[in-house]
Amino acid sequence: MKKNEKTTFICQSCGYQTPKWMGKCPDCNEWQTFVEETQKKEPCRFDKTGSISGTQEPVPINSIELIKEHRLLTGIKEFDRVLGGGLVSGSLVLIGGDPGIGKSTLMLQALHGLAIKGCKVLYVSGEESIKQIKIRSERLSTASSDMLVVSEIDLETIISMVDKYKPGVLVIDSIQTMFNGDLNSAPGSVSQVRESTMHLMLMAKKTGIPTFLVGHVTKDGAIAGPRIMEHMVDTVLYFEGDRNHVFRILRAVKNRFGSTNEIGVFEMKDKGLDEVTNPSAVFLSERPENTPGSIVTASVEGTRPILIEIQGLAGNTTLGTPRRTILGLDHNRVSLLVAVMERKLGFQLMGHDIFMNVAGGVRVDEPAVDMGIIAAVASSFLDRSIAGGTVVIGEVGLTGEVRAISHTDIRVSEIKKMGFTRCLVPASNLKRMSAIPGIEVIGIHNISQAMEILF
Ligand code: TYD
Ligand code: MG
Repeated sequence: MKKNEKTTFICQSCGYQTPKWMGKCPDCNEWQTFVEETQKKEPCRFDKTGSISGTQEPVPINSIELIKEHRLLTGIKEFDRVLGGGLVSGSLVLIGGDPGIGKSTLMLQALHGLAIKGCKVLYVSGEESIKQIKIRSERLSTASSDMLVVSEIDLETIISMVDKYKPGVLVIDSIQTMFNGDLNSAPGSVSQVRESTMHLMLMAKKTGIPTFLVGHVTKDGAIAGPRIMEHMVDTVLYFEGDRNHVFRILRAVKNRFGSTNEIGVFEMKDKGLDEVTNPSAVFLSERPENTPGSIVTASVEGTRPILIEIQGLAGNTTLGTPRRTILGLDHNRVSLLVAVMERKLGFQLMGHDIFMNVAGGVRVDEPAVDMGIIAAVASSFLDRSIAGGTVVIGEVGLTGEVRAISHTDIRVSEIKKMGFTRCLVPASNLKRMSAIPGIEVIGIHNISQAMEILF
């Protein structure tokens, strides 16, 4: 081993480092995740060449002049919105998602959008040969002379390629395949991923080339080498969705240049990803009307209200412990609400299995959909349907009170826009709301009152 090298054991799941091997990671509690990796003491070649912004001295913050950021648009509106209104120069964007969810497809389509506007783009694939990329590109009809593609995993070669061709936008698909010759660990290991991200980050900041990094996620949903990467990049987008469903949701979980929790909705078709500009209509399109166990509620993702259908099924259990199978909602939240229903409404749900689902394979974690969960379970338990034009929103507390939620106005506007005629909102929100003609808005104080109105 060379003098300036040291070996460390690194947890491949969370990046925890230790000088000795361990069976269980004390940080993330995963077993058998430590791998011995050699690290150079001076890992970063760019370190001594200058700082990211070019300023060396601290300056008063009010003396810094901001020129209005020019943002590059990919032409895919859903994508541009999630980015915060287009791509910022020098930004590093991480796109994570399960294998096969459509990350490479999205990247090719976004690059095509830029290339047809005359922006030279470079797509580096470490996973597919250029022939494979071409086949995909034909399927997506994304061929353009301004789109350069290369199949390469060596980081140094990629960096000199960027120097030579000076693309307007760069895509690395995927960061887990990148190989840095300075390290002897395999591509995909924590040190390789960290080093490659670091070099690409510095390159993006120095050259101003917006760079996308595609990252795979591990089985429990984290990007491999996760925490170390997430803080180095400017924006983290997750591409999620059920592979068996056609809908894909692109979610911003971190964005230095825009709102987080903004989402973009896409539909996977045989010719690539299609934008879904009115997700409410799509998510509600197959809703069975006047059927027990189905209710519509409004969730706000970022700045956009989306109506979703929550389905509940409560049936007598044959097991000692009743089952709670929840898809698309928070498991603990549902358990909590079911306990509140037992206590405050007197529903004997202990003897019932409860199954819940959000139609369309969407996931909602907002407390504002609590009332929707309660209404869906109650409707199935009582076997009584809820009147077709009704939507419920509101957070529910442990004593059965309905609590105020945010963005009531935009939710109710969307509810009205989608043709619903009656909406139950928290009473405290109703007081502060301006009247919206054409829809009956009812304020509710607690869940018993809501049950009286609904059933
Ligand atoms: P891909 O972009 O390769 O996923 P990732 O890069 O995230 O691993 O997407 C692959 C899936 O998308 C694959 O199952 C096939 C499907 N697909 C379509 O349905 N239509 C298309 O036009 C393309 C290119 C892929
Ligand atoms: Mg791919």
